[in-house]
Amino acid sequence: MKHVAILGSTGSIGRSALAVVDAHPARLRIVALAAGGNAPLLAEQVARYRPDTVAMATGDGVDRLRRLCGGGAPPAMASGAAGLVAVATHPAADIVICASAGTAGLEAVLAAIDAGKTIALANKEVLVMAGPLVTRAAARRGVSILPVDSEHNAIHQCLHGRPPDEIRRVILTASGGPFRDYDAAALSGVDPAAALQHPTWQMGRKITIDSATLMNKGLEVVEAHWLFGVSADQIEVVIHPQSIVHSMVELIDGSVIAQLGVTDMRLPIQYACSYPERWGGALPSLDLTRAGRLEFLPPSPDRFPCLGLAYRALRTEGTLPVVLNAANEVAVEAFLERKLGFTSIPRVIEETMDAHAVEAVSSLPVVRRVDGWAREHARVLARGLELTQ
Ligand SMILES: NC(=O)c1ccc[n+]([C@@H]2O[C@H](COP(=O)([O-])OP(=O)(O)OC[C@H]3O[C@@H](n4cnc5c(N)ncnc54)[C@H](OP(=O)(O)O)[C@@H]3O)[C@@H](O)[C@H]2O)c1
Repeated sequence: MKHVAILGSTGSIGRSALAVVDAHPARLRIVALAAGGNAPLLAEQVARYRPDTVAMATGDGVDRLRRLCGGGAPPAMASGAAGLVAVATHPAADIVICASAGTAGLEAVLAAIDAGKTIALANKEVLVMAGPLVTRAAARRGVSILPVDSEHNAIHQCLHGRPPDEIRRVILTASGGPFRDYDAAALSGVDPAAALQHPTWQMGRKITIDSATLMNKGLEVVEAHWLFGVSADQIEVVIHPQSIVHSMVELIDGSVIAQLGVTDMRLPIQYACSYPERWGGALPSLDLTRAGRLEFLPPSPDRFPCLGLAYRALRTEGTLPVVLNAANEVAVEAFLERKLGFTSIPRVIEETMDAHAVEAVSSLPVVRRVDGWAREHARVLARGLELTQ
């Protein structure tokens, strides 16, 4: 029996993780859950999974949750960063599924590593912001970081423990998002409703917009560097509209190994929970005779500049990936609020990156300071570009 804590249990990944727990009641037990603001859903999860500890983003959220949690012994409840840390370091937890959106979970992930927990990482922003700190802490503590992101999970499966010096390159596949075939003029007019229609994956709002700009793939390029020890030059992105090949690895002898599967996040989540074992699952088999043609195309850097910005951040290293991530979050939020045009998203990010004096990622306070600076700078830029409705 593995005991599981989930950061972000009310989100898309969090709910899929609970479906994996449902499929394996004799192997997985929930001990702690954290959510942002969705008290009604967290209350339902508390009634069903009976965790010892729960957390919400704010004290108001916890008050609402307390009112919604009816009979039975209520779990311990906490809020804010301390609440996330309490969930991530629950003494009985063996594995912490990190699936909260954005960067709020960074301290909790580091605390979970310090407490010796296995990390199942969906929250790629954490590695983009603080890759050196997170990977150093994991190495020091001997903790595994198992990727939940389907592409990195695929690479983990393809590598099967092979060392970095046997890798020639990793090939990340990208669906290309809903605007894959749009020209530059059409891209400038797209709105949030269109951008939220992902062709192959059902995901949270922020990652869905990141998929439409290809920033999601850019963040994954940085994530692959930290997870697998490969340089920017060893990471290639190909557009694969069918999302059946989840990613590939080319080894130094020229063999290319791919992982294929249905587009369902329960598969990589279950892999992270079962590793190093494999468990039977409730997922349908992949029917290749019905998959049709599998296409692989080069990305278009002119129409989707976010990918190039991510490569630039990775090649520069230091705090530039922190700036990339923070400016992106601000720009995506402004786009979702209809205050910023789609093609202004990369503009805000690039101008924020240009204005930043890069330094080493030497500590968490440095990361938080640069993150705060980049958000403020990006907000000012976004306001300057604000759409007049
Ligand atoms: N969805 C996917 O298929 C997928 C695939 C690969 C990687 N990922 C990564 O996984 C992460 C989550 O994505 P998602 O699609 O599941 O997002 P989502 O549906 O928006 O869910 C985000 C979760 O984070 C919680 N949350 C937000 N702010 C919080 C805070 N301050 N404290 C605690 N919890 C907080 C939300 O709680 P409330 O809903 O209660 O506010 C929700 O449970 C992202 O980093 C994303 O890049 C997702």
